[in-house]
Amino acid sequence: MKLLVTGGAGFIGSNFVHHVLDTTDHSVVVLDKLTYAGNRASLDGLPADRFELVVGDITDAALVDVLVGDADAVVHYAAESHNDNSLHDPRPFLDTNIIGTYTLIEAARKHGTRFHHISTDEVYGDLELDDPNRFTEQTPYNPSSPYSSTKAGSDLLVRAWVRSFGLQATISNCSNNYGPYQHVEKFIPRQITNVLDGVRPKLYGAGQNVRDWIHANDHSSAVLTILDKGVIGETYLIGADGEQDNKTVVETILELLGQPRDAYDHVTDRAGHDLRYAIDSTKLRTELGWRPAFQDFRAGLEDTIAWYRDHQAWWRPQKAATEARYQEQGQA
Ligand code: NAD
Ligand code: DAU
Repeated sequence: MKLLVTGGAGFIGSNFVHHVLDTTDHSVVVLDKLTYAGNRASLDGLPADRFELVVGDITDAALVDVLVGDADAVVHYAAESHNDNSLHDPRPFLDTNIIGTYTLIEAARKHGTRFHHISTDEVYGDLELDDPNRFTEQTPYNPSSPYSSTKAGSDLLVRAWVRSFGLQATISNCSNNYGPYQHVEKFIPRQITNVLDGVRPKLYGAGQNVRDWIHANDHSSAVLTILDKGVIGETYLIGADGEQDNKTVVETILELLGQPRDAYDHVTDRAGHDLRYAIDSTKLRTELGWRPAFQDFRAGLEDTIAWYRDHQAWWRPQKAATEARYQEQGQA
């Protein structure tokens, strides 16, 4: 198969591209705008005969039409992905997440191209800390932030195109990813690189918020499974039973880096901060037979810390500008 992977120079998209080229005979064309979040270096070392990077925008209908028409399947990762940015400048989230998705599904409809839409558990809103329930495919949509509402909107567009136009699409909603190549604006890399720089980690509010962590490699294996075996029109939740509160994550990072567990600062909380996410991935496991390979969060964190320690040339160019943005927002 020839896959078109949008957002393939980002954190999770690049992980998927490596996974596909390592484990299948497929070829891959990446369409990526190389925003502040995209990085060519995340795609280094890929086989030139099976891989191509096209720098462009998913809202460019003429370009998208050619690339989608030429592909057997589209896997759509491209997005503005950071909640904090969406609270300060929502417009790019509407352009890329809503109009960009619309542009892609119109082309996929025209060419009859198989489409897989990458989405997030944040479309379901949040859970109380003591709620015994987790998100399932039946949970009603209730997004909180500009980011998550644009992702919810994009999911609904894909569902409507399936029902009204027969788009050959599946959707997956995944929980929080961690691992190498994640931008330093995100929680785990921000704290690791702060400690490496001799700066104290920054915890929003009291730090009791819970995220359901999954290694990016497991997200990629799940998406490939859905592409192979998923039923058209269906949604699959992806998660690896990795609930952790933020305070514990920061304490673990500090401990693994040889610092006192309490050497962090509390900073201004995120507006509208979702309290807890938790995924029930029974459908994906029982119907498609997928299993996560990474179940030891502490060991995964240790490997991730080692990667950031050994790959400073990859993240250092982004670090100062990212921290300057947090400074302006009162979260540094
Ligand atoms: P990221 O910010 O690291 O990467 C996004 C990529 O999209 C970048 O390479 C960027 O250059 C590209 N891009 C942005 N706007 C574009 C445009 N208009 N045209 C073409 N390319 C554009 O994001 P990520 O964390 O890798 O997330 C990828 C996808 O996975 C997103 O759809 C996100 O909603 C979803 N997701 C992320 C997580 C997570 O924990 N990070 C969890 C579940 C779902
Ligand atoms: O759940 C999936 C989502 O996970 C994806 O859809 C998003 O694209 C991805 O960014 C992520 O969203 P979060 O908002 O959960 O991730 P973030 O890394 O920004 O923050 C994780 C938690 O850590 C959250 O509760 C906010 C908190 N936090 C974040 C930063 C950057 C801090 O306490 N301190 C920080 O400095």
